[in-house]
Amino acid sequence: MFNTKDLQNEIIKLKKENDICVLAHSYQTQDILEVADFVGDSFALSRLASTAPQKTLLMCGVRFMAETAKILSPQKKVILSHPDAGCPMAEQLTVEELRELKKQYPQCAVVVYINSTSELKTECDVCVTSASALGVVSKMPQKDILFIPDCNLGSWIAKQLPEKNFHFIKGGCPVHMQITPEEVDIARAKHPNALLLVHPECLKAVTERADFAGSTTEIINYVAKSDAKQFIIGTDNTIVQHLQFEHPQKEFYPLSKGCICKDMRLTTLVDVLNCIKGTAGEEILIPDETIKKARICIDRMLG
Ligand code: 13P
Ligand code: SF4
Repeated sequence: MFNTKDLQNEIIKLKKENDICVLAHSYQTQDILEVADFVGDSFALSRLASTAPQKTLLMCGVRFMAETAKILSPQKKVILSHPDAGCPMAEQLTVEELRELKKQYPQCAVVVYINSTSELKTECDVCVTSASALGVVSKMPQKDILFIPDCNLGSWIAKQLPEKNFHFIKGGCPVHMQITPEEVDIARAKHPNALLLVHPECLKAVTERADFAGSTTEIINYVAKSDAKQFIIGTDNTIVQHLQFEHPQKEFYPLSKGCICKDMRLTTLVDVLNCIKGTAGEEILIPDETIKKARICIDRMLG
């Protein structure tokens, strides 16, 4: 029987032999992060996807991340680690609905969260991630912004840019939105000395009670720089585990036991091995015209 280390060694050997770069979102499990060439938030993964020298990219994450990698590197083969790993938020607004909205808000620039389909991106002015949104939107000349599909990230950005008029339609991350303000009160009462760090996909009532809100990488960097010894973490609970691995002398508590992204959990270490062998995963194929149009708004973000 194989153990974790055997599987990891096989993956490391085969990915080199097959010229495959393994990209892993920070929500993947520790055993997968250990075999990845790059680990990061959506913003870092977008950048790395276009600079990796390998001919094949294996994205351990969810579909919009693999699609972004394909859009930025159309000449490469891009594999999504599990065919069913989607992001429910990415499916919340259709292109047809967006076309109607653009008629209702003709004065607005359309800012689309990267957690969206390639097709939706073809109709948008600029793409953002949670790490890049504030910087990107603050530099936009337009005052009126239609921010889709994440109302929570959008409201968090809007609060910091009062000079702009934001419009939100619907949408948000079902995983982060299930964290309640009551859970914040309970966690604060239980761990009075801990700092509360949350992802801006959380509800406004949660984000505004936090000591810090940021992308997964920003949360990880915040902990690394902080002198505090205890942290309550309001994002996917794998981050609690990764932080505990990296900082054994500090203490980390999940804000909500239910904050687990099922889609991110679908990929296993065996899937990673089988993707590398060519017997699992899904090759991402996007029509050239969609790639060309969707790339415009992603390039505007990357600068
Ligand atoms: P990050 O950009 O922070 O990685 O967020 C992506 C995501 O899907 C969080 O739920
Ligand atoms: Fe999508 Fe939420 Fe999962 Fe992130 S945590 S991939 S936004 S469902």
